[in-house]
Amino acid sequence: MRILVVDESPDARRTFFEALAGGPDETKWAVVPDESRALERLGREPFDVIIVDLGAPGVNAPRLLEAAMRLDPQMVRVVVSDGSDEKRVLPSIKAAHQCLTKPYDPLEFQAVLARAGSIHDLLADRRLADLVAGIDTLPSLPAQYMRLMEEVQSETSSLERVGQIVSEDIGMAATVLKLVNSSFFGLRQEVSGLVQAVTLLGLDIICALAISHHLFSTFDQRRVPGFSFDGLWRHSLVTGGFARKIALQARQDKSAVDRAFIAGLLHDAGKLVLGSTVTDRYNEVLRIVHDENRLVSQVESQVLGTTHAQVGAYLTGLWGLDDTVVEALAYHHRPSACPRQEFGPLAAVHVANILEHELCVIHPDYARPELDAAFLARTSLQDKVNRWRDLYRQVVESRA
Ligand SMILES: [Fe+2]
Ligand SMILES: [Fe+2]
Repeated sequence: MRILVVDESPDARRTFFEALAGGPDETKWAVVPDESRALERLGREPFDVIIVDLGAPGVNAPRLLEAAMRLDPQMVRVVVSDGSDEKRVLPSIKAAHQCLTKPYDPLEFQAVLARAGSIHDLLADRRLADLVAGIDTLPSLPAQYMRLMEEVQSETSSLERVGQIVSEDIGMAATVLKLVNSSFFGLRQEVSGLVQAVTLLGLDIICALAISHHLFSTFDQRRVPGFSFDGLWRHSLVTGGFARKIALQARQDKSAVDRAFIAGLLHDAGKLVLGSTVTDRYNEVLRIVHDENRLVSQVESQVLGTTHAQVGAYLTGLWGLDDTVVEALAYHHRPSACPRQEFGPLAAVHVANILEHELCVIHPDYARPELDAAFLARTSLQDKVNRWRDLYRQVVESRA
């Protein structure tokens, strides 16, 4: 992996030495102090990751990131901020995939590199790489998500500020209130304040909602007429809520229960990305699914060479979501192919997704995906499936 760092501080060099010590040998990195030298270097050799310090003098970060994006849309773009200048952060993060905060934390830095590395592994699948290379620009991380992450990571973070950020987008605020009052979370009292909603749902779920809200609200339904937009939103929410219940029943801890919900909410997000980036070919996918009653993922493989599962995993990996969430997205149709086989968000989402398709039939003549029998046998989950069917009915019947 080749990394270009645009930062003139001595702190930067030390951090990279520390972070890369003991790392893979094939990692190569270059540090340049300003924008013109960065552009010169980018013009001379290819890089997989660019890291730009927003505070470096002589660097117009939004302009540099745009230039990097035009040069190679697949380059992982990371911004570094010390959190002091929000005005400068906002325009830059529109073109960034990940955000680091200063002072540099070698562990955080290593995590960013590891994520960039796993993105590379995913791209080792030639067909996904070809598709991604054909997309002009990969969707960048929603600005609201970046602001939420900054708030969460800042030392002075407060739930009031998070509530404030959520309230600035009316659609997002409505989604949060609707969700917290739905039966998925089983609260007895009506919640009407955003701060209380944020407290009850937790920051991880709020951040995931910001991502899904962004993908849904920027999707142009008119360009993909065969796409059941409302159906997908409903299916995503129910799968998330149902996966959460399954994880609760399997006595998973709070964080795993939240990740099951998040993975369920985002499991089909790749469909939105494909529909808005390779629109003509995706319309063709939907036509074949409709005319020949075939599975969406099967036709996606045939027409596009990859599936919404891989694309969703690729993007959420790029955006730095938890590994177990990325894994759940990647393998949600065929969990037996996943190297990790213990119970986790993947198992919950796989079962929730299949039972949701089985029990809520929107198109009776469409082919429906099936449970992965090999996976259920290996994880001894077969006898639980009937219990989960009942659980699903409870979730859906009591839904607000
Ligand atoms: Fe799917
Ligand atoms: Fe699904």
